[in-house]
Amino acid sequence: MPIVKALLAPSILAADFTILGEQISQVETAGANRIHIDVMDGQFVPNISFGIPVIQSIRKATKLCFETHLMINTPDNLLDAFAHAGSDSIIVHAENTPHLHRTIQHIKTLGKKAGVALNPATPLGVLEEILPKLDLVLIMTVNPGFGGQKFLPETLDKIRRLKSIIDQKQLAIEIEVDGGIDAQTAPLVVAAGAGVLVAGSAIFGDKGGIDFASKKILNALV
Ligand code: DX5
Ligand code: ZN
Repeated sequence: MPIVKALLAPSILAADFTILGEQISQVETAGANRIHIDVMDGQFVPNISFGIPVIQSIRKATKLCFETHLMINTPDNLLDAFAHAGSDSIIVHAENTPHLHRTIQHIKTLGKKAGVALNPATPLGVLEEILPKLDLVLIMTVNPGFGGQKFLPETLDKIRRLKSIIDQKQLAIEIEVDGGIDAQTAPLVVAAGAGVLVAGSAIFGDKGGIDFASKKILNALV
């Protein structure tokens, strides 16, 4: 058995929506550990993706965990709906969630794992008081809103600093990275301390296919 260096969370934002169910089955076969679901509202980020009915529908396609990344304003109003649609974990952004403590409690009350995402310009310090309550921190390695953007190397130091805080406090919190992750950048973020890799275009956009693309990323870590 190869040593698992990081978990893979394909982002279906880059999938072919005409055959979404099939593409989800393919990433599952290729070794994906969870499905990353990017919900955008055209307000918090300058793009609109998809929402609750799509999540409900694809829930039938796989038993893999659904991780819902909410890039929407006032996420509190929709937490119940996203939980009931089939999310196993819900990630909100620190930038537009003023009562983060309440929001995290709400997600936990729904029986779901809770994560907080930080944009590239948002300092780690905003998590200081809430960190022990989190299951996951999502470090954005691009500015959210679009797939296929270039990885921002200045985020590496932030990953390193977060890793060191989590280790120092002996917390069981996953560090996940999102944006511009491919076979070139994956080894860099894993060396910095990331344990979960979101990848959209590098998995669904590779001419070699989903299986080849997933192995390319995972093999780059060995
Ligand atoms: C960006 C999204 C990402 C996106 C990643 O706002 O949060 O999850 O789908 O796409 P790639 O891997 O293409 O950068
Ligand atoms: Zn995302």
